[in-house]
Amino acid sequence: MHVVHTINEVRAAVAAARKAGKTIGFVPTMGALHAGHGSLVQKARSECGYVVVSIFVNPTQFGPTEDFSKYPRTLGDDTTLCAAMGADCIFAPAVEEMYPEQNLSWVDVEKLSEGLCGASRPGHFRGVTTVCTKLFHIVLPDIAYFGQKDAQQAAVLCRMVSDLNFPMQIKVCPIVREADGLAMSSRNRYLSQDDRRRAVCLYQALCLCKQQVEKGVVSVSDLVRQISEVLTAAGGAPDYISIVDAKSLQPLHVIDRDALIAIACRVGPARLIDNMLIFLNPLRFQL
Ligand code: PAJ
Repeated sequence: MHVVHTINEVRAAVAAARKAGKTIGFVPTMGALHAGHGSLVQKARSECGYVVVSIFVNPTQFGPTEDFSKYPRTLGDDTTLCAAMGADCIFAPAVEEMYPEQNLSWVDVEKLSEGLCGASRPGHFRGVTTVCTKLFHIVLPDIAYFGQKDAQQAAVLCRMVSDLNFPMQIKVCPIVREADGLAMSSRNRYLSQDDRRRAVCLYQALCLCKQQVEKGVVSVSDLVRQISEVLTAAGGAPDYISIVDAKSLQPLHVIDRDALIAIACRVGPARLIDNMLIFLNPLRFQL
């Protein structure tokens, strides 16, 4: 496995693989890798001839009061994990390599990026879509792999690739969880032992909500109240609890179509997110 730091090097590696007839799979990350990232690399490995993982803590997607400077950077461990999962190349550029001058060009996806995390993190998705555009233009993948863990990010990027005719495909892969249900996240390292025990409340609240829908509760305000009770009883401080149309991400008042339940909640020093999809048709069929 190669570890490269410059755009020229990764372009040369990808060009050689393509010349050899290989399809290019790409997994963009910010590092501090865990088994959730690993699952994306494995999926790419199983479908593509050459697998590139990018590791870049992207400053343009962090707000001024967010954790950019203290975001964990663990390139040594990340390299070991990528090699074990079968990656061919890690692209780990410095900030100056990706942003040699003040960035004046941005990619913005309207509407989809405005609610949920977009409302509490202004400018976040503009940073994500811009850096992914740059990474896609550098790596030129056939398929890029993203996690359902960041459901809004996945929806925004799928729309960007479709609206702007990027000649590639995006695949969205399932959330990987710890044994107790906590969604794996690089930010889980910020949790103390106590906070770690509390953090499972996001998953418990999502499961409760799904059970309630299965029992026939369709009022979003009732469901949101119940989720809020679970989170606050565990000592969490909800940032948002949203139940939205699974495709458009527009708010719902009643669950009358496929829905996404999305939560952001502070637990100790960490802002954690988690989500669950509710597919209505199979549920109706069961009832
Ligand atoms: P990062 O948070 O490192 O996540 C990289 C990819 O791993 C994302 O697609 C994310 O959804 C996926 N992922 C994270 N935790 C996961 C889990 N528990 N199960 C499955 N997949 C998981 O998302 C970013 O980086 C950045 O915004 C990026 C797209 C790289 C742009 O900077």
